[in-house]
Amino acid sequence: MPGATLTAAQDLPQEGFERIRMPLTADLGELDQRIIDCLQSDVPLVNRVGFHIIGGGGKRFRPLLLMLVARALGYRGTAHIDLAMVVEFIHTATLLHDDVVDHAETRRGRKAAHLIWGNEASVLVGDFLYSRAFQVMASLHRQEIMDILADATNVIASGEVMQLMYCRNLETTETDYFEIVRRKTATLFAAAAELGAVAAGQDAARPRWNRVGHHVGMAFQLIDDVLDYSAPAERLGKTVGSDLAEGKPTLPLIRALAVSEGARRQALEVAIQSRGASELDTVLSAIRETDALEYTRLRAEHEARSARNVIESLDPTVYAQALGQLIDFSVRRVF
Ligand code: IPE
Ligand code: IPE
Ligand code: MG
Ligand code: MG
Repeated sequence: MPGATLTAAQDLPQEGFERIRMPLTADLGELDQRIIDCLQSDVPLVNRVGFHIIGGGGKRFRPLLLMLVARALGYRGTAHIDLAMVVEFIHTATLLHDDVVDHAETRRGRKAAHLIWGNEASVLVGDFLYSRAFQVMASLHRQEIMDILADATNVIASGEVMQLMYCRNLETTETDYFEIVRRKTATLFAAAAELGAVAAGQDAARPRWNRVGHHVGMAFQLIDDVLDYSAPAERLGKTVGSDLAEGKPTLPLIRALAVSEGARRQALEVAIQSRGASELDTVLSAIRETDALEYTRLRAEHEARSARNVIESLDPTVYAQALGQLIDFSVRRVF
């Protein structure tokens, strides 16, 4: 049963992640301080919602990627901190919006913001975070940074809309799915890694690092889609099973459909087209009877391998090592 293999010894739990963060302890501390400073607004509701979601933690995966690339390329300054903050603000804005769209109940181990303050507040504070990110970005007076992040933000939004278009669509192909994931998730990872190269003053290496970020982001979302079917909600700190409830044709479901016929195929079709999570158990067993989760995981591993190939040429520093481990984490993560 493929589902049973998913908590195998290769999982990388919390301690493993802490080890990856170690070389960047000082940078991450500064980043949190800058986030707190830049989140402030004279409108109390912005602060309440903003601190609720930001204070919930989060892995800071995209900042880690950006800062590790910068450090691995020999950068010794502190200008990468603001870039990391901008990327985390954009990410957090997408989460506020995403939880409204996905009707999520939990985020970062806390009640989802829209369930406390309403959809309107969540959407508007998401907009506040986006625009604050652009204020910080503009203050840097670097056209290439504006270009990277303006393009990325637009592509992410187009990916979210594209995903909406494919909701409950049984005809969704793997190609459609990969394009949605590229836009909604991998684009920000690609921008983060590319900005690491920009911070390090290595402009010629920008496309290369963009590609690394792209592959890591693809792996990250593929695993997210596996975890949505297989991980306990407490460990993830967010709602699970919501992809099916929202009728999102993610790769596990696309694969299960592709290899099913008869009663199982029919059960899957009914589940994806009906509203509500009541079919989760039926679909879970259908998915476990097939190789759907394993298949998705293998695709994630393939993406991670492509990313790893590029980083092999780095000088062997603690940062390069942590970067390799971060790539591994994108596939071995359990939260
Ligand atoms: C969640 O991202 C959204 C996806 C792209 C899957 P993260 O898993 O990085 O969320 P946080 O920041 O750690 O909460
Ligand atoms: C990631 O997709 C969406 C964004 C890029 C914001 P999901 O909808 O799978 O993310 P989670 O599972 O809610 O974190
Ligand atoms: Mg979601
Ligand atoms: Mg998800």
